[in-house]
Amino acid sequence: RTVYVNGDYLPETDAKISIFDRGFLMADGVYEVTSVLDGKLIDFDGHVARLERSLAELEMASPVTSEDLLEIHRALVARNGIEEGMVYLQITRGAPADRDFVFPDPDETPSSLVVFTQNKPGLADNPAAKKGMRVISIDDMRWGRRDIKTVQLLYPSMGKMMAKKAGADDAWMVQDGFVTEGTSNNAYIVKGGKIITRARSNDILHGITRAAVLRFAAEAQMEVEERNFTIAEAREADEAFITSASTFVMPVVEIDGVKLGDGTPGRVAPRLREIYLEESR
Ligand code: PDD
Repeated sequence: RTVYVNGDYLPETDAKISIFDRGFLMADGVYEVTSVLDGKLIDFDGHVARLERSLAELEMASPVTSEDLLEIHRALVARNGIEEGMVYLQITRGAPADRDFVFPDPDETPSSLVVFTQNKPGLADNPAAKKGMRVISIDDMRWGRRDIKTVQLLYPSMGKMMAKKAGADDAWMVQDGFVTEGTSNNAYIVKGGKIITRARSNDILHGITRAAVLRFAAEAQMEVEERNFTIAEAREADEAFITSASTFVMPVVEIDGVKLGDGTPGRVAPRLREIYLEESR
C-alpha cells in the first residue's frame, strides 16, 4: 500500500513519524475518515469542514490546504485501486525537540499529516445491514469535547472490547441517564415513525453522515426529533440504528439483550440506508 506522510507518497513500510510526535506521546491530534464508493469519495467537503473546525478548536495548523487534501485523497484512492473502502487522515501537533505539555510554536514545529487507505470490498452491500447489529450500554467516560474528532480513541476501543466480550457488536454510551452516541457512530431510535436522535453539542461528534441522513429524512417527509433519549426508551422503540462514514446507516436490532420489535431491522433504517447510498454516490 502507498501512504502519504508529510509531503511524500511512500510504501507503508518506508513511512516514518518521529517518536517525539505529540500524536504518539499525547494523543494531540485530530483525524477524519471518508468512505469511498465506486472509487469516489463520499461527503468529502463535510469531512474537511469538520477537520478545519477540529483544528481551530485545538489551535492546530493544517500543514496543507483543503484542496491539497482532496488531491492527496484522490491520489491514494487511485494508487491503491480503492473501489470501496476508507481513507483515514491524521493531523498531529508535530514533533518538538523536547517533550512539554505546552503547545510548541507552530513556526518551529510543523504539524504532521498522515493519510492512508483501507480496501473494503462489499462496504455498501454489507450483509450486516440485513441482519442488524446488537449493542450493549456502557457509561460514557470520555472527555468533555467529543465534538472535536481527536485521536484519543482508547475509551471507544475499550467500549468495543466490552461489547465483544458480551457477544455484541458495539456499545452505546450513556451520560447522566441519556444515550450520547455509539463508540464510533451516532445513535438513533424510531418510535411511531419518528426518528429521534440526540441534538448536537459538545457531548457528541457532529457526524457528517448524521447531517446527510437527517437532511434526506426531512426531504422524504419523515419526522425527526433532536432530543435526548434513555436506554429504557430505546428498548421500547420500534427500531434503532446508527450512522457513520464506515457503516452509513446500520440497523440496531438488540439493546442489552432486549430485542427491538420483532428483532429484525424494521422499515425506517433500511429505507434511510437505501436513500443515503443512492443520494451520496
Ligand atoms: N467514526 N461519533 C463518533 C464518536 C465517531 O467516532 C464517529 C465516526 C461518528 C460518526 O461521524 P461520521 O458520520 O462523520 O463518520 C460519530 C469514524 C467512522 C471512525 O472513527 O472510524
